[in-house]
Amino acid sequence: MANREHIKIGIIGCGEIAREFKAFFKIVKNAKFVAAADTEFKRAKRIAGKECAYTDINEMFDKEDFDVLYIATPHYLHRDHIKLAFENGKHVFCEKPAGISVEDAREIYHLDKKYPHLKLGFNYQYRYDQKCFELSNGINEGVLGDIYYANCNVYFSRDSSYFNDADWRITKKFAGGGTLITQASHIIDIMIWALGEPKTVIGKIKTIKFKNIDTEDLGFGIVEFENGVLAQINSSMIVEPPFESTKGMVELLIFGKKGRATYSGPVPSSLNWYGVKNYSPKKMYNYAPYIAGSLEAFADWILNDIPYLNTIEESSKVLRLICALYKSSETEKKELVEKLF
Ligand SMILES: NC(=O)c1ccc[n+]([C@@H]2O[C@H](COP(=O)([O-])OP(=O)(O)OC[C@H]3O[C@@H](n4cnc5c(N)ncnc54)[C@H](O)[C@@H]3O)[C@@H](O)[C@H]2O)c1
Repeated sequence: MANREHIKIGIIGCGEIAREFKAFFKIVKNAKFVAAADTEFKRAKRIAGKECAYTDINEMFDKEDFDVLYIATPHYLHRDHIKLAFENGKHVFCEKPAGISVEDAREIYHLDKKYPHLKLGFNYQYRYDQKCFELSNGINEGVLGDIYYANCNVYFSRDSSYFNDADWRITKKFAGGGTLITQASHIIDIMIWALGEPKTVIGKIKTIKFKNIDTEDLGFGIVEFENGVLAQINSSMIVEPPFESTKGMVELLIFGKKGRATYSGPVPSSLNWYGVKNYSPKKMYNYAPYIAGSLEAFADWILNDIPYLNTIEESSKVLRLICALYKSSETEKKELVEKLF
């Protein structure tokens, strides 16, 4: 598609994140959206206007001309919607996570291989935050020397409206889990990007504040990576009082032989290196920050073949780790992080 200036996107799932995306389309130059589908017509209409709104995705495939299906449906539907998109010849930009189970990730991997001419990326947008890139890149370049350990903290606050608006979020079989899979998965993706393959976990999850949900509102984990590095995860959606903005709601701290690095985010984000001299991180890209940048990068993959950073192989690592945390909490034993194969 080298001779095209933008890709055309159809959306499935017109809830909270799709509404945010509508605003991003105004600043993203290389992607335009043309149509939207949702089981609730008024949601699709709010995103795309009456003429380009659908309740039947197949009708949208038949009537609209677009290159990419952006999937923003509940987690348990990601696998089936990826399959449907590929069967209809569309590239896929899918919201995180890569399904709700390791089996989902495996099936998606096979689909990805079955349609090699179609591209599949997952919207783990922290990868398009320059600070996250500098952190991961610096660690991989050995700026901190040998890594001793890491710590990631997620401080979200939710009230009952978060679940009332979308009851799939309270149901394990639809969401796959709670705060770990929904909120922490972004920073876990960055931690994996910096530290490599996770090997074993000990997990403990609990539902403390929201009694009528069967997903966790608090999740802890200890992870051992293949390289022996230990990391601790604390993820909450019950922090009181809520943060006034998203500043500082997510942290990743990495401790090494020569110093330490502390990331705080997601928006705005900051990164500080301690004990490190003369490290000048390279600039990674010129995309817009955060979600808009992630979308631009995906479009760049389609248009100019510049690889997008979060493929099924990468996003499966997050899912496999989180599934192992859930299993460990259930078995009360240390669990292996399942391999993709
Ligand atoms: N990248 C991010 O920062 C970010 C932020 C929020 C949500 N998300 C992800 O986006 C996805 C959606 O989350 P949300 O918060 O927008 O949820 P939501 O409940 O607000 O929206 C989901 C929408 O999907 C629709 N839907 C359900 N089943 C459908 C079907 N079979 N066909 C068509 N539409 C269907 C629902 O009617 C709803 O409008 C999830 O994967 C979530 O994890 C990502």
